[in-house]
Amino acid sequence: MAELSRRKILQAGGALSALSAIALASPANAQPWRWSPAGSIPGTGSGADPRTVWDTEADPLVASLLDRGDVPRVNQLLRTWTKNGQPLPDGLPADLRDFMERARRLPEWADRGKLETAVRFNEKRGLYLGVLYGFASGMMSTVIPKEALAVYYSKGGANMKRRISKTAKLGYDIGSRNAYLDDGEMIVTAVKTRLVHAAVRHLLPQSPHWTGAAPEDIPISQHDMMVTWHSLPTTVMRTLKKWKVPIPADESEGFLHSWQISAHMLGIEDQYIPATWDDADAQARESLDPILAPTTEGLELADMLLDLGAGLDLTLLSRPILGALTRFMLGDEIANWLNIPREPVWGTLLDVAWGPFVAVREGLLPLPLAPEAYWTFDELLRQFVLLYMSELQTISIEIPEFNNPN
Ligand code: HEM
Repeated sequence: MAELSRRKILQAGGALSALSAIALASPANAQPWRWSPAGSIPGTGSGADPRTVWDTEADPLVASLLDRGDVPRVNQLLRTWTKNGQPLPDGLPADLRDFMERARRLPEWADRGKLETAVRFNEKRGLYLGVLYGFASGMMSTVIPKEALAVYYSKGGANMKRRISKTAKLGYDIGSRNAYLDDGEMIVTAVKTRLVHAAVRHLLPQSPHWTGAAPEDIPISQHDMMVTWHSLPTTVMRTLKKWKVPIPADESEGFLHSWQISAHMLGIEDQYIPATWDDADAQARESLDPILAPTTEGLELADMLLDLGAGLDLTLLSRPILGALTRFMLGDEIANWLNIPREPVWGTLLDVAWGPFVAVREGLLPLPLAPEAYWTFDELLRQFVLLYMSELQTISIEIPEFNNPN
């Protein structure tokens, strides 16, 4: 990172640590958990506060793999396990194999018909989804304080671009035609990610940096998982609505369903998974909206993210344009937290021309009013997809064995 921007961040840091301490201890965080399991997939549940629940099955198992020194061998074996329908590789420890055989099964409530409709949604909205997962959700993750801290101090925090590509892989896998079919990869990605999260729960409490900064003893509770989940599909759907993208009800439901299944496969208990978009919005209003806040760590992660396109032949993914895009998608408050300067040309272009661009793309307006702006935006969306595609080729999700060494 350039010295200047690092200095800027450190300067902002003093004020921010006070800010983040306030954010983390704010009344919103201290509120009792009110969302009722009546709005969940099973419609019932213990109602236990998800801030006190983690992953009861995966956590002790992965802690034991780490303690036994089995992780390097397991990672090597799992590198060959890439397709949903593929048998697990020989040689895995028996307890891990047992767990994975169970964890890879789709929930009983999985609905093939809805998943097929989700494919239609993803195909029609694919271009928007690249920028939305990468920039709306990716940037939002930097102002989710507990996530920013966990990511910053874990192994992957040292290379944010790589980390974002991995999360984008999940977005890509979930949106692919065969996501949950035998030749798809979404189940593999979700089960591996579940193991990664379990490892992080074991490792981060051993990091003096993390324990010094975090407001909790164990990271990635069920509540945190749902917060991040809302930064993905709920935020995507909210933004598409804001952009007035017309979405048929069955496609919207299909998209939700594909993410409900991913939540289950990532180890989120069904009693916390919202049954409908209304339930999801209600939960997001309680769990996501009030907790967004800046932290020094999140600021540095956002700074890395703004350099996502650096060194690539993707001219539209330059820092000023990505900054303008963040301000446009997430609003002034979040952009100001992240010290993103106003970008006069791109800021205005997005404010004025994005709405008509979407309307033309959606066939709601016959002709581009400003053809240059139209094609520039179209190219911008395409470059996001290209970025992920080039980064995704070599992605392999692996269980970490240590925290961020920096
Ligand atoms: C790892 C997705 C929730 C923190 C990962 C990975 C994916 C992912 C795909 C593997 C990529 C990698 O190895 O870097 C998701 C999704 C979530 C979620 C879809 C919710 C629906 C969370 C939450 C936190 C978190 C709530 C923290 C509060 C981490 C960390 C890693 C990780 C620290 C490990 C990075 C490393 O290797 O050091 N996540 N995540 N995640 N996630 Fe999540």
